[in-house]
Amino acid sequence: MADDASPPGMLQLTPLDPTYRADPHAVLGPMREQCPVHRDAMAGTFVISRYEDVRAIVSDNSLWRDPMNAEEAAVMQRRFADNADPTLPRTSTTSILMLDNPDHARVRQPLAQALYARVAKFRPHVERIIDHYLDAVAGEPTFDLMAKFCVPVPVDAIAEILGVEHERLDDFRDWSEGVILGLNPFRNAEQTAHMERASLALNAYFTALMADRRAAPRDDLVSDMVTLQAGGAPLSDDEIRINLQALLVGGNLTTTDLIGNGVRLLMLNPGELAKLKADPKLAAGAVEEVLRYEGPVDITGRVASRDMEVGGCPVGKTQSMTTFLRAANRDPAVFDDPDRFDITRKGKPHVSFGGGSHICIGAPLARLEAQVALVKLFERFPDLRLADPEAEPVWRTLPFFRGLETLPVAP
Ligand code: HEM
Repeated sequence: MADDASPPGMLQLTPLDPTYRADPHAVLGPMREQCPVHRDAMAGTFVISRYEDVRAIVSDNSLWRDPMNAEEAAVMQRRFADNADPTLPRTSTTSILMLDNPDHARVRQPLAQALYARVAKFRPHVERIIDHYLDAVAGEPTFDLMAKFCVPVPVDAIAEILGVEHERLDDFRDWSEGVILGLNPFRNAEQTAHMERASLALNAYFTALMADRRAAPRDDLVSDMVTLQAGGAPLSDDEIRINLQALLVGGNLTTTDLIGNGVRLLMLNPGELAKLKADPKLAAGAVEEVLRYEGPVDITGRVASRDMEVGGCPVGKTQSMTTFLRAANRDPAVFDDPDRFDITRKGKPHVSFGGGSHICIGAPLARLEAQVALVKLFERFPDLRLADPEAEPVWRTLPFFRGLETLPVAP
C-alpha cells in the first residue's frame, strides 16, 4: 500500500480479490502498519488489525455481539441478522454466536458443559474416524486430501457427538454442506435457497432426534441437552435446535481447513514436519502454529456498547468493529519473525478462536481432531507429498475463511 493510498475496502479483504486470495498478508501487512484502525464507510465498520487492539476487543465482555445492536450503517454486520424472523424470540432464530447477555450466558453455559464433557472422552472416537478415512485411501497413487479426508472427518466427528444414526449420515453430510452457506454474506439467491432447505431439513431432524432421546436417552449430546433441560436448565426446544445446528455451521468447514492448511504447511516445511514425526508430542504446538500462521477464520466482530477509543481512534456506541484475527496473528510487534512457520514457537497465544465469553466453543474439539489427524496421517504415509509441487494452491473464495478447494497428494 503506497503512502497516499487509501486503506483496502472490505471486498479487497476477501479471497474474492485475487491478490488477497494468493496471499492475504500482502494486503493485511501494509494495512496493519499504515492504518491499523480505520473506518470502512461502505461496509459500515471499523477495521482493526493490530494484535493488542484485536485481543483487547475480543476479550472485552462488555461489548456487544448481536448485530441488531449495531447502527443501521453497519451493513456488513447487520447482513447476518437479515434473515431473522421478527415474530419469533431472538433466541429462537439466533445461535450463541450472535447473542448478548443475559441470553448468551444462559444458553452457552449448559451447551458448553455438555460439549466439553463429551470432547474430553472423545479421543478414541476421533482416532477411529481418522483411521477409517486413512484406510479408505490406502493403495491409491494420488488422491485429493480435502475430499477424502479433511472434509469428511469433522462431519463424522460432530455427527457422532450429536448422536446422528449411521443410516442418516449421508443426509446429515448433505445438510451440513447446505447450512454452511449461511457463512457467506455474499451468497446468491440459489445458495440462500439451498441453505434454507438444508436448515429446514436439519430442524425437522433435530426435532425428531430430541423427541427420541427424551423418550429413550442415549450416550450423545442431544440426550445431554434434553436431559439438562428436563433437569431445569432454562432452554427452549428452539434454542437447543438452533445451537446444535450452530455446531455444524461453526465447526465443519473450519476444522476441515485447519487440517488441510496444516498438512500443506507441514509438507512445505520439511524441517518442521521432521520435528513432528520425531516427537508426536509436538502435535499440540504444531496445531497452534497452524492456527496462528494460516488459521481458517479471518475475522470476528463486536459492537461498541459505549463510546470508546481503539488505538487512539474514537468509536461511537453502536458502531461496528471488525477485528482481523489473521492480521493480528502476524503482528511483528508480538511475534518474532511472524512469517516463519515454527511448530515449537513460544510466546503469546494466537487469537484464531476469538476471545472472552464468545471464544470458540468448539476449540477443544477442533484441536483434538487436528492433532490426531496430523500425527496419524504422517504416521500412515511418512512420505506424503504434494502430487504436483509446481501447481499453485487452489484456495476457496468464501469470504472471511481460508481453506483449500483441493489438495492433491501422493502417499
Ligand atoms: C479451527 C477450527 C475453528 C476456528 C478457527 C473457529 C473460530 C471461531 C471464532 C473466531 C469464533 C468467534 C469468537 C469470538 O467472536 O470471540 C468462533 C465461535 C464459535 N465457534 Fe468456532 N471455530 C472453529 C471450530 C469450531 C467447532 C469445531 C465448533 C463446533 C463444534 C465451533 C462452534 C462455534 C460456535 C458455536 C461459536 C459461537 C460461540 C459464542 O459466540 O459463544 N467452532 N469460532
